[in-house]
Amino acid sequence: MCGIVGYVGEKNCIPILINGLKRLEYRGYDSAGLGLIANGKSQVIKNKGKVSLLEEKVDKLNITATLGIGHTRWATHGAPNETNAHPHFNTSKNLFVIHNGIIENYQALREGLKKLGYKFITETDTEVLPHLIDSFLVKGHSLFRSVQLALGEVEGTYGIAVVYANEPNKVVAARKGSPLVLGIGENENFVASDVAAILAHTKQIVYIEDGEVIEIYKDHFIAKTILDKQVDKEIHEITMSLDEISKGGFPHFMLKEIMEQPESVCNSMRGRLLLEKGTSKLGGLESVVDQLVDTKRIIISACGTSWHAGLVGEYMFEQFARIPTEVEYASEFRYRNPIVGKDDTIFFISQSGETADTLAAMHEAKIRGALVLGICNVVGSSIARESIAGVYTHAGPEIGVASTKAFTSQLVVLALITLLIARRKDMSLVDGKTIVEELQKIPEKISTILKLNDQIEKIAEEFKDVKNFLYLGRGYNFPVALEGALKLKEISYIHAEGYPAAEMKHGPIALIDDNMPVVFIAPKDSTYEKIVSNIEEIKARNGRIIAIASENDDKIDSLVDYSIKIPDTIRMLMPLLTVIPLQLLAYHIAVKKGLNVDQPRNLAKSVTVE
Ligand code: G6P
Repeated sequence: MCGIVGYVGEKNCIPILINGLKRLEYRGYDSAGLGLIANGKSQVIKNKGKVSLLEEKVDKLNITATLGIGHTRWATHGAPNETNAHPHFNTSKNLFVIHNGIIENYQALREGLKKLGYKFITETDTEVLPHLIDSFLVKGHSLFRSVQLALGEVEGTYGIAVVYANEPNKVVAARKGSPLVLGIGENENFVASDVAAILAHTKQIVYIEDGEVIEIYKDHFIAKTILDKQVDKEIHEITMSLDEISKGGFPHFMLKEIMEQPESVCNSMRGRLLLEKGTSKLGGLESVVDQLVDTKRIIISACGTSWHAGLVGEYMFEQFARIPTEVEYASEFRYRNPIVGKDDTIFFISQSGETADTLAAMHEAKIRGALVLGICNVVGSSIARESIAGVYTHAGPEIGVASTKAFTSQLVVLALITLLIARRKDMSLVDGKTIVEELQKIPEKISTILKLNDQIEKIAEEFKDVKNFLYLGRGYNFPVALEGALKLKEISYIHAEGYPAAEMKHGPIALIDDNMPVVFIAPKDSTYEKIVSNIEEIKARNGRIIAIASENDDKIDSLVDYSIKIPDTIRMLMPLLTVIPLQLLAYHIAVKKGLNVDQPRNLAKSVTVE
């Protein structure tokens, strides 16, 4: 999704901004631009397409600047072209703005501004901002005050950075609903939508909150609300390193992140397992654990891959914690007047902690008095900060748009929460210990599965040109079927569907012929015999079958075209293993199709608009 980076200091900011934008590329975008104050004048350079094109364009101009802002745009209103790329100017071209989010009342604002004589040259919602701010500047207000007054008229969401040539020593930034952080340096300050953009320069971060406007100078900053109340800001030291956000020798972030999973799942459980007591210790939930154990109902709300993790969580909570659990798409939850109140606990799962739908659903649940808990990966993200309590997944930065290690870490955290509640209810010590022991063995088992990379790459070669795929699983592996299909869709653009295996005969079986590969998730568990029957049904119709099967399962080889043999664990933890071959399969198919694995078309890593 759109990215923002800004700089005020003494160095030439152009390489700083370009490198910052490159660090934000993973979020997904279709055009890029820079706005600078060079020799006291405002200058905007932008283009459709990649940041590398922008870099070439700026290099040719041979300019330097010590203040500027940069943007990567993911089109919402208006086609992805150079005109619609940010920054956007006011009519006198002495003020420019970059914006993430959506101005919902832009049509009304646009009409009003047109009547005042402002001319619009783009199709974007953002373009109302420079003109609206200008309309206050011409009345004699400062830039800071004009931004406050303009935002008072805006409905919707925004993270913005504004530069005005007549006040050339500052960037003004503001936030409502779109992430924005301030980076504090030595005689230089930064603003960014994502810490990754400025991590090379500083680890001192100030989180900008909704409703705040910040005036950023090279050696200090002033923070107020839109209503002009002074706010005190705290500086946080972040621990993420630059190494963690680079590819580390892998051709793609996605492959690096798949391969990191033995380590990332380990980090998710580090210090949290209590073997002797057969339970877990989650500091982030300590203050609410009694309430959690007594809760009448759990709702899990999320989007995309995190929603799939939530489905696995539902199985875990109901089987072991014995609490009725529902899983809701965050986007639906908010708009359907859900029956939620103080007896409910709602977990919001989000890798980024910034997904607009999830954040909005969380606000709704809070208003209704539910116990609002977060499961997030990004430390200090909006969902993490605004939930009453929660658990970090500690998977480390995830850059590839297709989520992999964040998913497995979410599953680990859900298992830890299950243990915490279930052991306070009726789970025996022996059962608790078994789960802890099995969790401890997961990293090594994932390493074993990752060694099948070459085998899976060969299978990918065979299937790279097909048009459709079906993924089938039962019980805990049904959400994994959904996740496997989503991975394939996201990065290879092959149509894929996930289904509960038993449901196949109620519809999808009509699709089966020799052009339809079916991936069965068929480990040896209590549903194994039933899934074998489903495999027979596909085979009878000439479907091509790939099975994810248990390592000791010899029977399956005669039934399927390809079998990928993986170690076993207890049922609730099986998704941590069965998903790994599916991630690798999607990855290799996309690579073989020559597609951009880390930045698939139309997708964004963190969807900060509704
Ligand atoms: C986007 C990403 C998905 C992700 C979803 C939820 O759609 O492309 O990969 O699963 O958002 O993101 P979150 O950060 O809330 O987990």
